[in-house]
Amino acid sequence: MFKINDNYLKLPGSYLFSTIAKKVSAFQAANPDKTVIRLGIGDVTQPLAPAIIDALHGAVDEMGKAETFHGYAPDLGYEFLRTAIAKNDYADRGCDIAADEIFVSDGAKCDSGNIQEIFSVDNKIAVCDPVYPVYVDTNVMAGRTGTYDPKTEMWSDVIYMPCTAANNFSPELPKETPDIIYLCFPNNPTGATVTKAQLQEWVDYANRVGAVIIYDAAYEAYISEEDVPHTIFECEGARTCAIELKSFSKNAGFTGTRLGYTVIPKDLKCRVEMPPHVHSAAERAAHGENASHLGGTDVMLHSLWARRHGTKYNGAPYIQQRAGEAVYSPEGKVQLAKQVAYYMNNAKVIKEGLQEAGYTVSGGVNAPYIWLKTPDGMTSWEFFDYLLEKANVVGTPGSGFGPSGEGYFRLTAFGTYENSVAALERIKKM
Ligand code: MLT
Repeated sequence: MFKINDNYLKLPGSYLFSTIAKKVSAFQAANPDKTVIRLGIGDVTQPLAPAIIDALHGAVDEMGKAETFHGYAPDLGYEFLRTAIAKNDYADRGCDIAADEIFVSDGAKCDSGNIQEIFSVDNKIAVCDPVYPVYVDTNVMAGRTGTYDPKTEMWSDVIYMPCTAANNFSPELPKETPDIIYLCFPNNPTGATVTKAQLQEWVDYANRVGAVIIYDAAYEAYISEEDVPHTIFECEGARTCAIELKSFSKNAGFTGTRLGYTVIPKDLKCRVEMPPHVHSAAERAAHGENASHLGGTDVMLHSLWARRHGTKYNGAPYIQQRAGEAVYSPEGKVQLAKQVAYYMNNAKVIKEGLQEAGYTVSGGVNAPYIWLKTPDGMTSWEFFDYLLEKANVVGTPGSGFGPSGEGYFRLTAFGTYENSVAALERIKKM
């Protein structure tokens, strides 16, 4: 008789955004005359920029001719895209990341969920609270989080780092030492950021305690203030402790097109005893490097992720990777800067509108998310229902991101300008 991975049974409820989608569908079915404005999931609404459309058309035409047809993509990504990323996202910012340290994928969500596979199940993770649910849920599936307490909504083997108004939604170094630290800045869901000096403290801490930081920089394009790091590799020492996840969804509208990448520097290593079958220096070198060390070796996480990618993944499609390359073209950069400005104008409309209506609000300056305190002591889900019922506006309950999100609510700036304005008019009338 087969057995299932019963870690799945430990997961409470369904995925946050699936639960919201079900609730909204039920409301819409019961109220067909109401026009619902969706400012819940962070899904973009603006069409792909012309430079990206041109690149897609060009790549589609290439696929239609024998001489320019492309089959399986290289599993770590095409050289043209990895080189463009290394130059634009790293070298131009003074960061030392080589093209072959970049792994192209079909999106940061998959990478943020899959990356835990290369770590032992014994590792202890630390997460911000509130947090993007994928980090925790995928560790639950792997059996790394212990037991769930429905009262506290916490897992016994997870270190929670509360991000509250008291600490400006920026986590403090944990008291208990973690092995893997998930950080996301600009933050989803709170929209908060850290300064370069604050991020440097995390890098120093991780190097000191031997932890790895999984740094989600999906919202980097929305940074508007000086002194907010665009990548963790701006920090000294990050090459020995950090993995960075990047998405094309938010900066270039690829939520439906799918493209992302992960950076694993070759300096990020873990000391291990070699498996018993590995004897020769050549075999040891194939597993890592430093083959001369007897009794153990330093294994590059880069090698493990490359092995995983090669085994489980056949590469992001050529067409998408050409579209990704266009993101870094001169025209692409200009067009996407306008798109980001469009969403950030929505953020301003939402934030200022909420403030005028008397709400306590943060975020929305370096991130497309606005984080508000629910009024009159309402729980996050009570406010969700209230907003849907009274204003026909959908947002995301803060408690869905973790217990410290209770009493908070997230609105996204990724809607249209017209809907952002209309939503605020409705909210002001509630
Ligand atoms: C969100 O709304 O938090 C994001 O859209 C989720 C994601 O990027 O997967």
